[in-house]
Amino acid sequence: MSRITTLSRFLIEQTRNHNTPSDLRFLLEIVGRACKMINRSVTKGALGGVLGSLKTENVQGEVQKKLDVLSNEILLEANEWGGTLAGMASEEMDTVYQIPGCYPKGAYLLVFDPLDGSSNVDVNVSVGTIFSVLKCPAELLSQNEPLQEEAFLQPGVKQVAAGYAIYGPQTMLMLTMGNGVKGFTLDPELGSFVLTHDDVKVPEQTAEYAINMSNQRHWEAPVKQYVDEMLEGTEGPLGKNYNMRWIASMVADVHRILTRGGIFMYPRDAREPSKPGKLRLMYEANPMSMIIEQAGGAATNGYQRILEIQPQSLHERVAVFLGSKEEVERITHYHQQQK
Ligand code: AHG
Ligand code: MN
Ligand code: MN
Ligand code: MN
Repeated sequence: MSRITTLSRFLIEQTRNHNTPSDLRFLLEIVGRACKMINRSVTKGALGGVLGSLKTENVQGEVQKKLDVLSNEILLEANEWGGTLAGMASEEMDTVYQIPGCYPKGAYLLVFDPLDGSSNVDVNVSVGTIFSVLKCPAELLSQNEPLQEEAFLQPGVKQVAAGYAIYGPQTMLMLTMGNGVKGFTLDPELGSFVLTHDDVKVPEQTAEYAINMSNQRHWEAPVKQYVDEMLEGTEGPLGKNYNMRWIASMVADVHRILTRGGIFMYPRDAREPSKPGKLRLMYEANPMSMIIEQAGGAATNGYQRILEIQPQSLHERVAVFLGSKEEVERITHYHQQQK
């Protein structure tokens, strides 16, 4: 029989050989289990009565899909009882989720985008779940007092693990614990995530970019310049032809970049100067930046490394440029030049 490495086995071996704390191992295993449950609902689609929107809005004014709320509930229920978490936060909750008093609190914080790309769910295009794990500062951890939002406001370099699940033609879980990126594919017969991508690296050479071109007129000058140069192809200063893809699910766009290189951009937008970009720092940009950096790529907001940004609030937004190093360095340089 060929030997397979399931997510559980991989995590146990991490604990054995790389000193991964056993409570972190348990936490990641439960996150994986929750992703399998979300996958089950996403896959059922109309058969499960889970498509369509609710009448509610989240804290950022987005109409919630049924699956946004269901995925959020699945992650909360799966993770609240295990004793590994001091609290949780997500795109779909205004503020901190407190661990119910009947369960012990643990050392970690879990932040997530329960369903990323949810505008795609009704049209049967890939969606995903993005998650980030931080340590709760010891001085802010109390078994009796409610956890404050402040505990979460840590720069992305403090993440102890990050990853995403993609619900696509195959369901995959991509995970980093700070020593490279591993990719697991869900084996539906086994019901387990199986290690299929051992050492994921972002290809360095690339000629592919991802951006929502319909916002072109609202971009800042460095982004306009860069995209114009790419559109000029072999006749322009970049000297090659670029291809463009935009799925509008960050997980799917980033997964493509992780697999075959490229650059993903969600720049600042002149329509809402107070909001630097659309994507959220704590549960979209930070975990994806950790994955991309761990795979040898780069991630900036145009000026600085995303992982070094000190968050001011839970739902803070940020401009995102991530992917193959050379391209991210170029667009970052254009920003810095035009400062
Ligand atoms: P979410 O569904 O979690 O709110 O995230 C949507 C995000 C991200 O997945 C994607 O990259 C971006 O929104 C798409 O934005 P456009 O609607 O501008 O294409
Ligand atoms: Mn949303
Ligand atoms: Mn999202
Ligand atoms: Mn979402």
